[in-house]
Amino acid sequence: MEKIVDGYLTGKNIAITGAGSGIGKAIALAVATEGANIVVADYGVSLDGSDPTSDIADETVEEIKSFGVDAIAVAGDISQMDTGEEVVTAAVDTWGSIDGVVCVAGILRERMLFNMSEDEWDAVIAVHLKGHFTVYRHAMAVMRKQESGGSLLGVTSGAFTASTAQPNYSAAKGGIVSLTRSAAMTAASISLRGGPAINANCLAPTARTRMSENVPFAIETGEPSDIAPMAVYLLSDKGRDVNAQVYSVVGRRISVWNQPREVRSMFAPGEAWTPEEIEAMLPNTIKQEPNPFIDDLERRMKEMAQEGQ
Ligand SMILES: NC(=O)c1ccc[n+]([C@@H]2O[C@H](COP(=O)([O-])OP(=O)(O)OC[C@H]3O[C@@H](n4cnc5c(N)ncnc54)[C@H](O)[C@@H]3O)[C@@H](O)[C@H]2O)c1
Repeated sequence: MEKIVDGYLTGKNIAITGAGSGIGKAIALAVATEGANIVVADYGVSLDGSDPTSDIADETVEEIKSFGVDAIAVAGDISQMDTGEEVVTAAVDTWGSIDGVVCVAGILRERMLFNMSEDEWDAVIAVHLKGHFTVYRHAMAVMRKQESGGSLLGVTSGAFTASTAQPNYSAAKGGIVSLTRSAAMTAASISLRGGPAINANCLAPTARTRMSENVPFAIETGEPSDIAPMAVYLLSDKGRDVNAQVYSVVGRRISVWNQPREVRSMFAPGEAWTPEEIEAMLPNTIKQEPNPFIDDLERRMKEMAQEGQ
């Protein structure tokens, strides 16, 4: 196979966790097609994180090599610090740099908050949230010293706003957004001091995979390959100015999320607040901020009740 010399990412070396299936694999194949070498980091587990196998990462490496780029398998658990380090050093030791990381690895352990076990909480937080830290931490340490900088790309979910049956997943996905914004601020301060250009952003994808198979409500969806072009753009030099953003990607739609900020304030009439003063003033001044997800839940419950009549 001939080398890809004029791809969107030719010459870059990119590590992708969860690259062995679903959205991670679609991103890995697209990034390889655009000319980058790939570290395929995948533990090869089932949806709940059990039964690891290195076959998944090895098979994906062989598939990627057939595109005319190089690829390396790392089949460890990404929630472990040494796996995060291995993912980054594999690229640096083999090809001389790490130009981008995409953290797609994830598992599900669904349970209502009041029934959830400590193990269900810990496992999901470890793979998603710590699985971003282990990679970002080692990648940023290299990128801040590379003239060419680099890109950090996290994967959150619309569920970061709230998810009734997935409080662990929702908390991890919210943590990923905050971690990525912190990385983006660090990146901005590095480049404002004359250092290399680094960006950090999140995708919130929706696509048909084994993970989304049991989503209870009919939602807008698409294919894993629909997510890949946005990842390719954000990993490229053309997308380097984009920083601290969250983009939803589904089918043909890409949307940008707002940045959280305080919207209204009220001030104590005296030296300090009393609960009675808050009780009297809050409903007429700052009020509550509408929660579109609870509003939507109420609307759906009403519709279901009417359909049942
Ligand atoms: N599918 C969707 O609609 C959807 C929606 C929102 C967010 N997401 C997010 O997208 C990402 C990919 O989801 P998917 O639907 O492609 O799922 P998937 O189950 O098809 O792929 C997940 C991959 O992560 C790997 N993995 C799991 N634990 C790992 C670990 N500890 N170390 C290394 N690799 C590990 C698995 O082996 C698997 O290959 C996840 O972070 C998910 O939360 C997906």
